[in-house]
Amino acid sequence: MKKWWQEAVLYEIYCKSFFDSNGDGIGDLPGVLEKLPVLKELGIGCIWFTPIYCSPQVDNGYDVSDYRSIDPAYGTMDDFKRVLDAAHAMGIRIVMDQVLNHSSDEHFWFRESRKSKDNPYRNYYIWQPPKADGSEPNNWGSYFREGRGSAWEFDAATGEYYLHQYSVKMPDLNWEYPPLRKEIYEMLRFWADMGVDGFRLDIFTRLKKPEGFPDTQKQPDVLLDRNGFIVDKKMCTNVPGIHEIIHEMHKEVFGPCDVFTVGEGAGVNSENAPGFIGKEREELDTVYHFELAGRSKPVMRAEDFRRVQKAWYEVQKKGGWETQHFSNHDSARQVSNYGAEGKYRIASARLLAVLLLTTPGTPILYQGEEIGMVNVSYDHIEDYNDRYTVGDYRSMVEKGADPKETLAVLAPKSRDNARTPYQWDASPNAGFTKGTPWLRVNPCYPEINLKKDMEDPSGIFRGYQELIRIRAEHPVIPDGEIVFHLEDDPRIIAYTRKNEAESLLVLANLSGEEAPLQLPRELCEKNWKLLFSGRPECGGGLNAKHTLAPWESEVFLCTD
Ligand code: NOJ
Repeated sequence: MKKWWQEAVLYEIYCKSFFDSNGDGIGDLPGVLEKLPVLKELGIGCIWFTPIYCSPQVDNGYDVSDYRSIDPAYGTMDDFKRVLDAAHAMGIRIVMDQVLNHSSDEHFWFRESRKSKDNPYRNYYIWQPPKADGSEPNNWGSYFREGRGSAWEFDAATGEYYLHQYSVKMPDLNWEYPPLRKEIYEMLRFWADMGVDGFRLDIFTRLKKPEGFPDTQKQPDVLLDRNGFIVDKKMCTNVPGIHEIIHEMHKEVFGPCDVFTVGEGAGVNSENAPGFIGKEREELDTVYHFELAGRSKPVMRAEDFRRVQKAWYEVQKKGGWETQHFSNHDSARQVSNYGAEGKYRIASARLLAVLLLTTPGTPILYQGEEIGMVNVSYDHIEDYNDRYTVGDYRSMVEKGADPKETLAVLAPKSRDNARTPYQWDASPNAGFTKGTPWLRVNPCYPEINLKKDMEDPSGIFRGYQELIRIRAEHPVIPDGEIVFHLEDDPRIIAYTRKNEAESLLVLANLSGEEAPLQLPRELCEKNWKLLFSGRPECGGGLNAKHTLAPWESEVFLCTD
């Protein structure tokens, strides 16, 4: 028997940009409530909400100032409960983001913590004395480029530094301190008791810090050197002891509350994944990883796809459970990265939908991908919000870089590409708000929007809808065997999915050129029936044609 999350398609909602019901320019929970029917129509089984708790919004909610609240910009707790109930009534589960590595500096705990060294909340955070010369405790750099770039901020009130891997306004929590852990577990139970179905754990691999806070060495694969402060992803990732923390969380909360967990797998790969998601580990149900897609992966080659899928299927065979995703709120748009904008936008978006929904594990779909939203490019830095983009721009320009060129370099990687408001229709501001949107709407909305896309039976939304239905009807998809074919072809992705009852054959042309292909004879001899065509206008059918049109994708079924 599969668990619900092994059968459901997860849909990620970035509430701020989803739908604004009250005209303040910010997406909100009543807006989600209003749009639930369209998600039901799409066929998703679960919503993952990025953080909607009270927050000063330094990092759009990943800086939580009260873990048990709903930010008034999004509505009230009652609004949340209404969404929860309505979603449940439709058979849609709800997963909440939990940001447990850091809080906002405006959280009560931190406001207390910084008051004095003997404050009861002092040890909720990570404080260290300065070095003898008054400088930072070590050379760690923070991910968000702010000030001089250090991951430590001096606090004059007590003469010590606190650690912040991200913004100076996002101090790291101290997982070595049992009262903090206890407080977090109670908070997680609070949401589980309310009826939420699961948690997405933000950068869970970074909760444990290396003992003694040693300097990091400058290595070739180190991300960035900022004034001698080094951003070394490895420093606080997967530090020994991390498994004990996650296991304890499982024992205290995830197990007893029977909630689903999906971790943001920074630093998780197919080698170390079983340590976190192996059943016997009692840690997490699954993770999403960055071996194939993500902010630092602007291209996806057929050979990468094959390699990563094979490696993760091995994880699945060992009892772990994998996920699939091509984009999220931290990346650029998947069609712009891995498909094609312009002439083949619809074809390539449908091809990505085929790959997402016919590979093993649980698919995670980010809002807007089901209508093929694309990247945006603004002329002014003031139009950007992403802390990476704004911080990097300022620092590069300060060092003398040309502003226009800098923006041109940073724009394609900006997380704002994924965060522009949802394009509902062709009315002003894409129908997202009657007010002024918090982030400029992508000007392409008259052309790319849900209303228009849904009217096209061969559009992207209808493609996702059909593929989600196919996925639900064919249990071979979540966990059947995956075998690749035509592995020498740099453009073609071809695989079969197989269990005792049925086989699926998936063909996809990852290029804007026609791609002739010769399938192995044993495959051709089978009796394949076309289940889905990414480009129905091109005909389709396996025997009639051995050439895939540009960005064409097809799914066949065989029950012989
Ligand atoms: C990962 C989240 O997905 C991202 O949006 C955020 O900026 C960082 N974690 C810090 O919380």
